[in-house]
Amino acid sequence: MFNLHKDHRTLVTISFVVFVLLSLFIAVVPAYQMQDVSPLPNQAELTESELKGLNLYISEGCVACHTQQVRNIEMDKMWGDRPSIPSDYYYSKSRMDIWRQSPSLLGSERTGPDLTNVGVRQPAIQWHLLHLYNPRTVVEESVMPAYPWLFEAKANPNENDMVVPVPPKFIKSGDTKIIATQEAMYLVAYLQTLKQTPLPTNPEFIPSVRKKETVQSDQKSMLPDGEQLYMQTCAACHQSNGQGLAGAFPPLAGSKIVNDENAEFMIQIILQGYDARPEYAMMVGFADQLTDEEIAAIANHERSSWGNKAPAITAEEVARIRTYTLSLNQ
Ligand code: HEC
Ligand code: HEC
Repeated sequence: MFNLHKDHRTLVTISFVVFVLLSLFIAVVPAYQMQDVSPLPNQAELTESELKGLNLYISEGCVACHTQQVRNIEMDKMWGDRPSIPSDYYYSKSRMDIWRQSPSLLGSERTGPDLTNVGVRQPAIQWHLLHLYNPRTVVEESVMPAYPWLFEAKANPNENDMVVPVPPKFIKSGDTKIIATQEAMYLVAYLQTLKQTPLPTNPEFIPSVRKKETVQSDQKSMLPDGEQLYMQTCAACHQSNGQGLAGAFPPLAGSKIVNDENAEFMIQIILQGYDARPEYAMMVGFADQLTDEEIAAIANHERSSWGNKAPAITAEEVARIRTYTLSLNQ
């Protein structure tokens, strides 16, 4: 059909179309899908000086040897309490301009340790300053380069100077002191912010709703207040409007699972938790905390709110799914 040896127009056109399609699917679409990520509750904003430190981290090329992504695999467990999720990379102030997104510092080279949680592992300013001045001062066999241009040598430091306690054998001329520049302080301030934000934990059950339920328990069809239970147990993550938080918790409004006529999968998720997709964090199950009536009430609230329209389910159905699901795991 095409004679690519002779027809250069077709050859160039085909390569161009393939190039455009690949760019769309590998770069543009994934970047577009990541546009509206929200921060986790309690996630701290970077201050001005920490942001300057982030820019130094970029300009000094630290990303060439250090990742900031805890993968969902065994060997990464030591680098954080949980796998990284998109919300972890949310910096509201650091969009560089309309064309350039906040810098991606995920990295791919793991020559040095992953720095996702280094602010927890190494909290001390002096340790970081020594390590940046010359990594061999604190880690004898380190292969990390020294960054002496972030420091000054001074014979008589004044009281505002941050003197770094460098051991004498690392200083060229004996009686000078090593002073951290403002840049070094910014960079360390940034390193200290590198801490994983904890996810909201399954909230404590508040017994006030439980009492109400016992009052009603002789009337079989009456379930406890699903909305109130939802606010207490689910809204910390899925939000009171059912919209979730992009990059951390999926929306329940419009969710296929919630709107499925067959509620079995949804009930299994509530009982056992769910950890299926890398773009979301992990949900821990509520089998031990919620009764069948409570689960039915919450499920019905979710199935009839925020535009969702799925048939209601009964506590008996939840009981059946509970027995079946939990017996599978034994
Ligand atoms: C050539 C690769 C390389 C570059 C570039 C590099 N590092 Fe490192 N880094 C390492 C290695 C290897 C280690 C482990 C040994 C050590 O602690 O010195 C390390 C360790 C660290 C640690 C301690 C981590 C821990 O878990 O204790 C920090 C913090 C750090 N580097 C920050 C930086 C910063 C900031 C920069 C940029 C200014 C940088 N690194 C540039 C290779 C590198
Ligand atoms: C600690 C945070 C957290 C709490 C609390 C929580 N969830 Fe989740 N939930 C998640 C995460 C994260 C996922 C997605 C997990 C994945 O896909 O890997 C999820 C997924 C779901 C899904 C699947 C939705 C879909 O379309 O993918 C349902 C249904 C659900 N949760 C219901 C509930 C209910 C009901 C409660 C309260 C009883 C609750 N969740 C409490 C974090 C939470």
